[in-house]
Amino acid sequence: MTSLLMCLCCVLLELMAVHSRVLMQSRIVGGHTAAPNSIRYLVSLKSTSGQHFCGGSLVHRYWVLTAAHCNIGAEQMMIVAGDYKVNIFEGTEQYAKPRILVIHPLYNRSTNNADIMLIKLRAPMVLNKYVSLAPLPRQGTGVAEGHVCRVSGWGYNSLEGGQVPVTLRTVTVPIVSTARCNSSDSFNGNITANMICAGYSTGGKDACKGDSGGPLVCDRRIYGVVSWGNGCGDAKFPGVYTAVSRFRRWIDQTIYGSYLRCFKPWR
Ligand code: ARG
Repeated sequence: MTSLLMCLCCVLLELMAVHSRVLMQSRIVGGHTAAPNSIRYLVSLKSTSGQHFCGGSLVHRYWVLTAAHCNIGAEQMMIVAGDYKVNIFEGTEQYAKPRILVIHPLYNRSTNNADIMLIKLRAPMVLNKYVSLAPLPRQGTGVAEGHVCRVSGWGYNSLEGGQVPVTLRTVTVPIVSTARCNSSDSFNGNITANMICAGYSTGGKDACKGDSGGPLVCDRRIYGVVSWGNGCGDAKFPGVYTAVSRFRRWIDQTIYGSYLRCFKPWR
């Protein structure tokens, strides 16, 4: 059960343990290196010491969409857009500090329900050849079982065990129905309506620790946020993602609600 509960602690503990042991778990599993700056809305969340710990998607020049379990506190966080090799300065990066973290009110760290967070930046990112905005799905829309989507991130892959993740990696995975994902030989009822699963029944391709917060993209839209799993690339356990389409209204209200209030002259 504890292995099902992927929390921020796991990420931090792993980052600290990276240098002292052979990696037992890999990160983007079974994928390949992405072309430079091909996923321009993908951002890296770094600790103030510069260590990558989660992914995210730029959904507005001032806002990043990520997982609630990536919350290490606004003071400890730095957001990097336009990144490709995560520990090397390439001249395309833009850096911003968070102003506020908005964690979904329903987020539950023991069930991972509503594992979604918006980060408002202190300064807007500049949209250019290396940085763009991520398109979101409409509220309540679904993706059919078997539909092939893409997940990307700076997590380790198994073959590079022990190395700090460097180059952005990406892999495609098909959507698994919630019924199948909830079956007794898989997640056994722990998948809520706010989650979607993706992976092959043969395993081998998956997101993994360190990819959290990053996008699962189907038909060019961010349908999922890397949230949790049980191991990585396990045939019995697909990756679990926050179902972004369930939160589209909350996202819009959070981002635009404050602006709309500002423009009401009688307030
Ligand atoms: N919770 C992990 C993280 O913080 C992500 C786990 C995703 N696991 C998976 N098998 N897809 O990075």
